[in-house]
Parts: sequence; C-alpha cells; structure tokens
Amino acid sequence: MTIWFNIAEGIEEVVSAIAANLDAFDDNFSPEVRLADPRFGDYQANGVLGFAKRNRQNPRALAEKLIEALRNSNSLDENLIEMSVAGPGFINFKLNKEFLFQWLQSYATKEDYSKAAASRYSGKKIVTDYSSPNSAKQMHVGHLRSPVIGEAIKRMLSYFGAEVIGDNHIGDWGTAFGKLILAIKRKNFDLKAKHDDPLTELESLYKWGNQATDEDPKALEEARNELVKLQNGEEQNVAYWEAINHISNLGFHKIYARLGIEFDYELGESFYRDKVQRVYDELEETGVGEKSEGAWVVFFPDHKRFKKQPFLYRKSDGASNYASTDLATVLYRLEAFNAGEIIYVTDDRQRDHFEQLFLTVEKWFTAKGYKIPKLKHVYFGTILGKDRKPVKSRSGNPILLNDLLNEAVERSLKIVEEKSPDLRDEEKQEIAETVGVAAVRYADLMQNRSSDYVFSWEKLLSLDGNTAPYLLYAIARIKSIFRKIELAVDADLKEASSLETEAEIGLARKLTEFPFALEQALSDLRPHQLCIYLYELAGAYSTFYNADKVNVKYIPVRNRRLMICQRTLLILETGLNLLGIKTLEKM
Ligand code: ARG
Repeated sequence: MTIWFNIAEGIEEVVSAIAANLDAFDDNFSPEVRLADPRFGDYQANGVLGFAKRNRQNPRALAEKLIEALRNSNSLDENLIEMSVAGPGFINFKLNKEFLFQWLQSYATKEDYSKAAASRYSGKKIVTDYSSPNSAKQMHVGHLRSPVIGEAIKRMLSYFGAEVIGDNHIGDWGTAFGKLILAIKRKNFDLKAKHDDPLTELESLYKWGNQATDEDPKALEEARNELVKLQNGEEQNVAYWEAINHISNLGFHKIYARLGIEFDYELGESFYRDKVQRVYDELEETGVGEKSEGAWVVFFPDHKRFKKQPFLYRKSDGASNYASTDLATVLYRLEAFNAGEIIYVTDDRQRDHFEQLFLTVEKWFTAKGYKIPKLKHVYFGTILGKDRKPVKSRSGNPILLNDLLNEAVERSLKIVEEKSPDLRDEEKQEIAETVGVAAVRYADLMQNRSSDYVFSWEKLLSLDGNTAPYLLYAIARIKSIFRKIELAVDADLKEASSLETEAEIGLARKLTEFPFALEQALSDLRPHQLCIYLYELAGAYSTFYNADKVNVKYIPVRNRRLMICQRTLLILETGLNLLGIKTLEKM
C-alpha cells in the first residue's frame, strides 16, 4: 500500500476509484475526506451522506456497500488503516501506529517533503501581486499585512510546485506626482542633495502639495500642468519623477530586506502607461465599455450592487486611472507571463474595485477570445488599537513600519536576556532581530486575514500561546536536545523501534497532518490555517516531551523518540519558513 504524503488526498483517491466501479455511485460522487473527530478516527469520508440524500438512497446502506467493496479490493491494508461506518453514513478511517511509523520513515528529510509536496500544483503559473505601496510615502502599519500575507502565500504555492511570480505593483504614476512636483518647485527642494531621511521629506512635500491644491485653485491648475508635462515626457519633470521613485524604492527595500522579501518584478503603474490605449480600443471595439457623461465606463446592469455603480476606466479629460492600469496589467500578465492565475493582496476596502475589475476582464477577454486567468482577491482587515480604531502612534499618526519593527526587536531583546543571559551581546541582538520581526509577522498571519484584529505587544511576544516566540523556542529546545547528545539534527537514526506510548502516537499522528494543513491553508489562501496547525503540533510535542524521556539508554527507544523530535523540528521549521519566518538555533 502506498504511504501517501497527504493522507486525506490518498484516501480520497482510493475511495473515488472504488466508487467509480460501483453501480450505486456516479460521477457526481466525491468522498470528501476530512480530519475526523479524534474520538472516532483520524479521517472521515463525509461525501456518502450528501450523495445518498441527493439520490434518495439510504446513506448507511450505501456506506456499507462502499466499505465492503473497499475491503474486497484490498486497496487499503487493514493492518495499517481500519475502516468503519459511523453515524448515519460516514466512513471513518483510523491510522494504526504501524502506518504512522511507516509515514515517519517514508518522509524523513526536507527533500522528501518538498519532492512529495511539489507534485500538487506543478504546471501552474501564478502571479502574486502584493505589497504594492504608493511612491513618496513611507510604509506604515497599514502596509504590513500585504507583504506579510502575500509572501506566505507565494512561498506555500511554490512549495506545492506552482511557478509563482512575485510582482510589486508600485503606485508610481498618477495625479500625486503633479502635486509633488509642484511642491518641490515651490519649496525649492533639492532632490539631489543629501537628506537624512529623504522619504520623510518627500512625504511632507506631498502633504503640503495636497493641501495647497485643495485650498488654492491656481495651485491645482499648476499641479495639473506639471502632471501633463510629466506625461508628455518633459525632461525636468521626468527627472524629478525618477528621483522620487528612486528615493521611495530605497526606503521600501530597506523594509523588504528586513522581512526577507524579494520580488521577481516591480512593474509599477507607470510601466503600463503606454499599454492603456489598447485597453481603451478593445473595450470600445467589443462594446464592453461605453462613453457616459464624457467618461468611459463598464456597466453591470444585472449586478445587484454594481447596477448603479459602473466601473470607470477612463476619466472625462482622457486620463487613465487605477482601473485602466489594472486592466492593462491583467492583459500584460496573461501575454508576457502566460499567467493562469493572478492573486492580489490588498485591504478589504478595495473589494469593489477588484470585483468590478474581474467582471470587466471576463467580459472583455470573452469577447476577444483570450484565455481568462483565474483572478483572486486576497483581502484583509485592519490592524486596530486597544480602542478598536486603526492603530496609531502616540502623536496620532500611523506607526511607521520601521519603528514598529524596531520596537518589536527592542522588546524581544528582553526575552533573550532572560532566556539566554550567557550569550554574547552581538548574538543576543541578532536573535532579538529575528524574534521581533517574526513575532510581528506571525501575529498577523495567525489571524484569519479577512477580520480586523487588535494589536497587542503582550500577546504577540508571549512565550506561551499561538505566537512566534513560542514556536521559535520549541525549535530551539529540540535543537538543544541534539546538541547535548552530540548528534546532528538530521542524523540517520537506524534501529528505531515502532511507536508505543500514547504521547508518541499522538505526536506522530499530528505530524502526518502537516500536508493536509498546508492544503487547507492554500485552498482558501488563508495562512492562519497553517498557524493553527503549527501551534497544535508544538502542543503535541510538549505533551510528548513531558511524558516521555527522550535520551534513554535503550537505543531503539531513544532513536524512535529522537526521530519524532527530528520530524517535529523539520515541520516546525518548514512551516515557519513557508510563512516567511526565519528560525533560530538558540533562543
Ligand atoms: N498601490 C495600491 C494601494 O496602495 C495597491 C495596488 C494593488 N495592486 C493592484 N494591482 N491594484 O492601495
């Protein structure tokens, strides 16, 4: 019998194949294998129930029939997996300890894992559009979630074998630049001179320009002229624009470096400025877009909400906007990258925009006969303060991302001082950097992304609970076991005997759930599912560690326990790395 990496998937395949040969089932049957209530088994096939109901059959009798056929086929070895019918017509599967042991031995190394995982999405080409901040503004706490969630999704998809392109769609074009150039000129700001913090200066110039154009129609007119000059390629304004983007990008990349994020492309909005004409032409030619009150829009007469809210993609003065750029971007990603899927990671205030974008692309691409990529908006809620309003610094401004990370590191240093007072200062500082950044990131990822959450230093730095420090500490503890007995963490442990104690079996069972948890996290692009799993795994490890001594004299027992420690370490490290989080040797 195959020892599948993803057990739920393996059972699903076997059961489907058997059902396909039974007259009582048809193509509409899917076994729907899930984790079971642990009192009854490990996995459960729920699909018989719904199928029987839809076809007016007796579910229990149908389940009995299926199980009998499964037994007769010998496709599941009942010495390894027990089957039973339960309740009104579920089928339960219980993994025996021999199965668990064989699983642990079949999947032993990082390479075994990635090889087994990579078959899942191979051949898929996916563009992930994440972070994507606007130029001339510093990243603040509101800019945390997109890169953090986007990076996790990107890594998980590649782990499953997809070819993933990360594209940072920077907002480097549009009306803001007219105002900025106006401010730069009026204030005689020297972009070439050395500034301590040029991005902060640009941000205040932008604010100044914004206010000036709000208050004074003449300034507004002037800002418009600067923008037109830029759009027409006037040398000086283009030079300003380039300098502004250069400064912004340096600032952004300091943060990305700290987060360990690298993009494959950074095609900002400006990249599409010569590509919107084709969008206008094709939308007009296909009749998908129409002129309305001077502007160009797409109507959705049959849509409940958008009936009264058309999608505006070209302003009445002829200028492009966020929508036209995004339309051109989809086409580019299809043609240049051959993208089968595009994932956008932004906050939930942009839900309407993306819904309308996706509807428009569908109409437009259908009319032109283009292949329509799968389009997904991965949206997220707001980070709140204790007052349940968007979190702010004491001065009332949004907290800058860099300051937030600095504070996390400072606070983590205290934990390190406490846990490892004997380390060198330098080493402490390094560990604190990893712990602090990890803590902020993990606290974000462990939340269901579509909800808001309240930011709390106490919670995210806590050493017990579903936090990065807790998981990083679990990893460091396992590593120290191996250090003490002077064995490599990936040593090949021969002569391990079969699992025996309840704690060993409980932990082994949890370990085998890893592929399923990953799959769950990816099915709806919700990294918190993986966080929940890692936290439960660390809990099962604690239970095991407290119940069973690892370093016993009798080698077969010692080695099987060490093997369980190794696999726990492998999964905790793999899981955190997939979330984009660096792990540690010591803490
Ligand atoms: N720059 C936008 C913002 O800050 C996010 C861009 C998201 N990506 C996209 N293709 N629209 O809100």
